[in-house]
Amino acid sequence: MLHFEVNKESCTQCGLCVADCPARIIAMAEEGCPFIAVEKESICYRCEHCLAICPEGSISILGLKASDSLPLEAGYPDPLALERLIKGRRSVRRYKNENLDPTLFQQLLEVAWHAPTGVNSRQVRFTVLDDKEKVATLRDEVMVGLVRLAKEGSLAKGKEYYTSFISLWEKHKVDILFRHAPHLLIVTAPRHVACPEQDCLIAMSYFELYAQANGVGTLWNGLAKGAISDLLPELRQRLGIPDDHQFGYVMSFGMPAVHYARTVQHGPAIIHRAL
Ligand SMILES: Cc1cc2nc3c(=O)[nH]c(=O)nc-3n(C[C@H](O)[C@H](O)[C@H](O)COP(=O)(O)O)c2cc1C
Repeated sequence: MLHFEVNKESCTQCGLCVADCPARIIAMAEEGCPFIAVEKESICYRCEHCLAICPEGSISILGLKASDSLPLEAGYPDPLALERLIKGRRSVRRYKNENLDPTLFQQLLEVAWHAPTGVNSRQVRFTVLDDKEKVATLRDEVMVGLVRLAKEGSLAKGKEYYTSFISLWEKHKVDILFRHAPHLLIVTAPRHVACPEQDCLIAMSYFELYAQANGVGTLWNGLAKGAISDLLPELRQRLGIPDDHQFGYVMSFGMPAVHYARTVQHGPAIIHRAL
């Protein structure tokens, strides 16, 4: 059931919802308001474009009220602010030894979960380590696992460099794998959805930008991903990642112990103007 409801008093029958519905299932009653025929409900993408586009806030769908959405009259961040964010975002490899405020932690995940997904599948799953002690425990387990693989000589070919991370940790307590970040985010999605890998990477990209806009440091963590998903796959189960999920990526995050004063200057962009 979609619970597509229209406030007949405020609806002006402008037809915007009808025109914008990607599944083309909203019709305008001859004398009255937009409606969705029951037999067409199953085609709905659940994208909520109808709720988003209605100027009067007359449409409710899936039990969601227009009044609970953020209004967009104030506009988006100005382009220069976004340019500063995109160019100023850095990989953070030094963190404060403290947990994030739990409210902010939850907010980062809730907002990032608005990232687009193929066919609006919305099946991206955030597995998080919400306490620095949990990351420390995982680090210990990863190190133990890597030591075992190294001793057995069964570190995957081309991954022998992980042994240097073990010795840096054992000798100097320098953590190249998790960079002493207090938190970890693992994004996965069911293999059966249309675009699991893309969904994961887009969600993580949104998470990163929103986190950095909130002063939170982030690091795309290929080394931790390699350890968890490839070298020590038993950790998947230990972390509660469903068997039928595609492993997206891993991100370390937390309050940064570093401040960047300016953007970097990459570019010019590699652009090919096709015929
Ligand atoms: C997919 C991906 C995986 C990465 N994995 C790691 C990693 O395991 N460890 C690390 O220190 N940096 C990692 N990085 C960070 C890159 O080295 C970094 O983005 C690059 O040096 C540019 O620096 P910047 O992000 O500050 O612009 C990764 C970045 C990406 C996009």
